Amino acid sequence: MKLMTVTGARPNFMKAAPLYWAAEQAGVDLQLIHTGQHYDPGMSQVFFDELDLPKPHRHLEVGSGTHAQVTSRCLERLETVFMEERPDWVLVVGDVNSTVAGALAAVKLGIPTAHIEAGLRSFDRQMPEEINRIVTDAVSDVLFVTEPSGVTNLVNEGRSKEIIHLVGNVMIDTMFRYLHLARARKMQKQLDLPQKYAVLTLHRPSNVDREKDLDELISHLAWAQERLPIVFPIHPRTRAVLNQHNRVGNLEKLPNFYITGPMGYLDFLSLMLDSRVVLTDSGGIQEETTALGIPCITLRDNTERPITCEQGGNKLAGARGTKLADALNPILMGKAPKTDRPELWDGRAAERIIQILLQSRS
Ligand code: UD1
Repeated sequence: MKLMTVTGARPNFMKAAPLYWAAEQAGVDLQLIHTGQHYDPGMSQVFFDELDLPKPHRHLEVGSGTHAQVTSRCLERLETVFMEERPDWVLVVGDVNSTVAGALAAVKLGIPTAHIEAGLRSFDRQMPEEINRIVTDAVSDVLFVTEPSGVTNLVNEGRSKEIIHLVGNVMIDTMFRYLHLARARKMQKQLDLPQKYAVLTLHRPSNVDREKDLDELISHLAWAQERLPIVFPIHPRTRAVLNQHNRVGNLEKLPNFYITGPMGYLDFLSLMLDSRVVLTDSGGIQEETTALGIPCITLRDNTERPITCEQGGNKLAGARGTKLADALNPILMGKAPKTDRPELWDGRAAERIIQILLQSRS
């Protein structure tokens, strides 16, 4: 059996890695395709180096552009690869532009296609990822789901229960495998950070693209850093937008605000592990903090990962940070909410996926 996994952007690599390891263990040939949606070494190569991944079988070098440009370049180049290679299955992960392109290219060639991390819905169609999720789930042949809400959403959209499998979370597989190496990085010491600090990540257009909203968010972050120092590894897109609005200086002036470049997987995990709280607009980080029992404050109005809130540790504070103080105050008072690790987030999701694909043959 020959499997191909499409990757392209930073959050794909840690989701594809456990599929590769599980396939290898089961003696199945799995080839990685890198579309090249992310190309900066710090957004791409560092993950291949750290996650024991081989060089991608094919690199398609699509680069950046508008959504249509990136998606269509991926679509065209992936179709060529699939026609040449004729895999038995194409696996697509997550919700980025490379994901939707991979699913569309494969199903139109009649190649069985599986979506990993299916069924998540924010019900906010202004998010490009929501459109990618809906389209990918509508066309894929098998849907692997991380949390019960995903099953409900897919059934509500008319997908058959037989093709939906609740298997757990491949991103958490990777995290558990590398926890010990991440701990050894001791980023708090390396960056000379205070004992108590918060980590911040921001990259979504809804948080950073509109100047007025961005200023409101910055004012809430300015309040927060007076109470708990904040470390901000900045995404290149966010840096570009902040520069364009001349806001990097405003942040750098804040006395307890530390800006760094984007970090590799192990360094970032190390930074999270020693933090008091993570402030983020990322989907994956909401899940990682939930699995680790670290409080998370999500700077968005909604989440497609409701289990992270239901388990207790994740609070929504709004894209402009209007509820940041409400969410942060209990943590500052040492009353951080408790969180439970969701069922099946046990480090074995990829093994289950490979087993189900193998059984589908017999
Ligand atoms: C993409 C995903 C998003 C994911 C995020 C993680 C889509 C629709 N969005 O968003 O779901 O959470 O990745 O990072 O697929 N850039 C660089 N270097 C790079 C890559 C990008 O500087 O290696 C800059 C470029 O200016 C580019 C911009 O970032 O135009 C946006 O990149 P893009 O891949 O379109 O989206 P992300 O914001 O990274």
